[in-house]
Amino acid sequence: MATQHFLTLNDLDQPTHFQVLSRAAALKNVHQQRRPVLSLPQRVLAMIFEKSSTRTRVSFEAGIHQLGGTAIFLSPADTQLGRGEPLSDTARVLSEMVDAVMIRTDRHDKLETFAQYSNIPVINGLSDSCHPCQLLADLQTMLEKFGQLADLKVAWIGDGNNVCQTYCEAAGLFGFDLVIAGPSAYQPDPHWVALGQGRVQFSTDPVAAVQGAQVVTTDVWASMGQEAEIRERRAALAPFQVTESLLEKASDEVMFLHCLPAHRGEEISATLLDDPRTKWVWTQAGNRLHAQKALMEYLILGQISEIGCNL
Ligand code: CP
Ligand code: NVA
Repeated sequence: MATQHFLTLNDLDQPTHFQVLSRAAALKNVHQQRRPVLSLPQRVLAMIFEKSSTRTRVSFEAGIHQLGGTAIFLSPADTQLGRGEPLSDTARVLSEMVDAVMIRTDRHDKLETFAQYSNIPVINGLSDSCHPCQLLADLQTMLEKFGQLADLKVAWIGDGNNVCQTYCEAAGLFGFDLVIAGPSAYQPDPHWVALGQGRVQFSTDPVAAVQGAQVVTTDVWASMGQEAEIRERRAALAPFQVTESLLEKASDEVMFLHCLPAHRGEEISATLLDDPRTKWVWTQAGNRLHAQKALMEYLILGQISEIGCNL
């Protein structure tokens, strides 16, 4: 059987996503009861980080540990990758030693190359193109509050970056409506918009975009690798800051999401994360742990595990 990777959301079909998310909810419940689930004993996850991370690193490392396995953190500075060993060779070597690899990198095609030579599942921990693990947690959080994804209205405010592009993909896969409000110079790539299958619309007016939205979300104005552009980005994106008063214009039941890290005074107002309507952001961050545990089980075991969750 072909190795199942997770480089984009569309690597899994919609029914499988819902099974993973349902397992994630069960794992969260068991975790909150402090009951152990040892579904991946002695399994090893290698984590290659070519960019910084707090949430992705901690959630994968804690997650595999909680399931009975262990993680190895690899940075280019400390491995032969940083001295030019090809990804294809590294992929073949790690396939002999560990059970899955998570990679955070810049160019998405590096992930594709790695996966092409890997006999073990490769997980995208963020690329310049997309961040599917983030969306798993966001979808889990939306399901917790709204019980469904289809026909929700989601407003993305700001930069059409890697996370925004993954929202486009998710809109097509799960059938929610996505309105993107941002400057024309910072729109998502048409490839990702097309994956939205007609569910993605654009607006230049953030107030119009959030009208009736159950979910309002945003992300930093300069992603990792774009720091040198911050002055021009601040100028173009200033009208697209999410504030308390913008949330007033959304649905009464609005949920604010942010993948974090947040830059107060840029994409969000200085006090937004103190507003009760934004408290789901912390649940969203925590759901990285549960969603990725379910994902690792599925990819490594080749099926949705039921271990430890027969409540
Ligand atoms: N949201 C997210 O991926 O955070 P980190 O960069 O801290 O991993
Ligand atoms: N768009 C951000 C997301 C960080 C989790 C970046 O790529 O830096």
